[in-house]
Amino acid sequence: MKTLQHLLEPIKIGPLQLPNRLVMPPMGTGLSDAGLVSEANLAYIKRRAQSGAGLIITEITAVHPAGHVSPRGLGAWDDKFIPGLSRMAEAVHSQGAKVALQLHHCGRESYTLQKKKQALGASAIPSYIFGFLGTPREMTLEEIQETIAAFGATALRAKAAGFDAVELHGAHGYLLMQFLSALSNQRRDQYGGDFKGRARFMLECIREVRKQVGPDFPVSIRISGEEAVKGGYGVNDMQTIIPDLVAAGVDIIHVSFGTHGNMDINLNTPNPSAPVEFAPGFNAHLARKIKDVATVPVISVGRYTDPFLMNEVIAHGDADMIAVGRQHLADPDFLKNAVAGHPEDTLECLACNQGCIERLSLEQQPIRCAINPQTGQELLYPAGPAAVKRNVWVVGGGPGGLTAAFEAARLGHRVTLYESGSRTGGNMRYAAMAPHKNVYDRYIRTLTAKCKKQGVDIKTDVTVTESMIEKGKADAIVLAIGAEKSACPAEGIGTSVVCDAWQILDGEVQPKDQVVVVGGGLVGMETADFLREKGVKDITIVEMLPKSPVMPQAAHGQMLHRRLRAAGVKLMFGATVKRIEEGAVLLTKNGEDLKLEPVAQVIIAIGVTPRNVLKNMLSKKGFRHFIVGDAVAPRRIIEATTEGAKAAWAISEDLSLPTK
Ligand SMILES: Cc1cc2nc3c(=O)[nH]c(=O)nc-3n(C[C@H](O)[C@H](O)[C@H](O)COP(=O)(O)OP(=O)(O)OC[C@H]3O[C@@H](n4cnc5c(N)ncnc54)[C@H](O)[C@@H]3O)c2cc1C
Ligand SMILES: Cc1cc2nc3c(=O)[nH]c(=O)nc-3n(C[C@H](O)[C@H](O)[C@H](O)COP(=O)(O)O)c2cc1C
Ligand code: SF4
Repeated sequence: MKTLQHLLEPIKIGPLQLPNRLVMPPMGTGLSDAGLVSEANLAYIKRRAQSGAGLIITEITAVHPAGHVSPRGLGAWDDKFIPGLSRMAEAVHSQGAKVALQLHHCGRESYTLQKKKQALGASAIPSYIFGFLGTPREMTLEEIQETIAAFGATALRAKAAGFDAVELHGAHGYLLMQFLSALSNQRRDQYGGDFKGRARFMLECIREVRKQVGPDFPVSIRISGEEAVKGGYGVNDMQTIIPDLVAAGVDIIHVSFGTHGNMDINLNTPNPSAPVEFAPGFNAHLARKIKDVATVPVISVGRYTDPFLMNEVIAHGDADMIAVGRQHLADPDFLKNAVAGHPEDTLECLACNQGCIERLSLEQQPIRCAINPQTGQELLYPAGPAAVKRNVWVVGGGPGGLTAAFEAARLGHRVTLYESGSRTGGNMRYAAMAPHKNVYDRYIRTLTAKCKKQGVDIKTDVTVTESMIEKGKADAIVLAIGAEKSACPAEGIGTSVVCDAWQILDGEVQPKDQVVVVGGGLVGMETADFLREKGVKDITIVEMLPKSPVMPQAAHGQMLHRRLRAAGVKLMFGATVKRIEEGAVLLTKNGEDLKLEPVAQVIIAIGVTPRNVLKNMLSKKGFRHFIVGDAVAPRRIIEATTEGAKAAWAISEDLSLPTK
């Protein structure tokens, strides 16, 4: 029988009693204001602490201005930060959890500091990610001593602010790990040399923290169990310093993996927030290896979403506690739902990284979540119920429509959702067919079930028409009708060898060998991946743009590029298909005409165009309406869900609407 017994068992860390083994690991939010705790930070962390986790660890908090990753990251290098940090500790305590502050110095891993040419490193070796901006300056011995002191002083500030523990960030390629790795530390002084020599800086930081906070204050160290970069350190190296870390004063070892430096399509390893290709709990073996040599509790982290799996990992002895990051963003009620006997109510994190890590790192925007419109927007999120209950029609059952319907029903409105297909999901149904993306199907099923539970009347196989709207009694309409396939301008599009990506993905057309996929965006790339998995031979993707629209810096993009390359899929960029014939495709590239042959199948994946039905009529006849998602412009899940939720929130607040 499935049980949560081990996960829910209390644990003592030094003098600190935790009610259970669930931990929220640190996650940068980009919500702070010049390093100070903002109202948005407080609302965000309070919601996370409602998960019931025993321990919440705050996001990276800079111990020194020279290690402040970005102006929107937290700082604590001065006493001026203490009042804000106290409010943060209170926000977590108010929900019954304990809270640790993560002590951080980014070293060379900062876009902002690299841009200003102010980044420091163990050695003057460029960062993997920001190397294009320049080389960090090697820290002097004085700077090293100043930084060690800053770790200690910041830990003391955390204690003064009411935090229950601190964690040193020794993972993911930031400063402590830059010292640990031979790839970033080639110093010839006492802080370089062999693995033990390179660990010296980390150990001195721990000792200073311990000295400052005293013996009865828990100290955690976060490590990457292995560097997961070619030529980097392995878990066997790491095992050799675990007794030293404990002797230096740590009470917990938090075992993460990798560096942001493995965002390299040639490497077969995930970044620290592993994409959907990696199975839940895939990193537990590293925690196990560390636990084998540790005399203090060990935390495992990595793609956990299911409390029953967390329980098993603890029961199996691989770790003492489990840290759950992105699932805390996607649906912080996962533990409560499981305890209540309703795990099916939990929206599972898609491991897409779209709203969280990639929004922060690639778009330089504050945190959100692709499937949880509350995350990062807690201050906007209406608790409900709405003062006036309205009749709301939602047209379209993709992620935008389902989110609008759920939110409107949650706020107390009478909601009917119309979907012209036989089931909900919209384009997510096709997304779910691509390799590794079955979780997208579970997402739609769970959200649909949650809508029904919330009282949404879902009517499938109904295409909403103008006359239905005119005769209906809706107070407000959310138009979430998505986008339709764009017409391909190439000649010969009616040739018998031509089909489209949607027909291939849902099995309507069987794939053949010798395929040309026209369009190298996400749909084209994932269709090629689908073909690769089916064993199709000789696949060529032809893309008009000069480089891939699927960013290899994004975690899933990285994996996708790697798989296609390894399978010998040919990618042609800057090439435009002009004519399709039986057995051949004619294209131009760099002004030159080319002919691909033999070709048995041509699959069109050139993108989608917003559906325009109903839009004019709704405007002309003055119906109160909101257009959301791909119906506005073809984009992604996050835009569809955000706009869907905001439409529902606006309907609840708009007092000018009729009151029926
Ligand atoms: C193969 C594939 C993979 C993808 N992968 C990703 C991904 O990994 N990440 C990501 O962010 N995005 C991905 N996308 C894009 C993503 O699916 C869309 O951005 C998203 O589905 C848009 O949501 P939506 O609710 O606006 O519209 P849709 O999902 O298109 O839903 C619109 C719905 O409206 C219905 N409808 C239309 N007209 C009417 C009417 N008159 N009456 C009733 N119902 C109507 C349609 O049947 C449809 O179900 C992918 C798309 C495809 C095709
Ligand atoms: C948005 C985001 C921000 C993160 N910021 C931090 C951070 O500040 N410090 C840290 O040690 N790890 C950070 N991480 C890594 C997470 O703590 C965690 O190790 C990782 O996401 C894997 O866990 P998960 O699969 O449960 O999400 C971040 C991850 C995400 C998604
Ligand atoms: S944005 Fe994607 S990966 Fe990040 S928490 Fe939400 S669902 Fe998970």
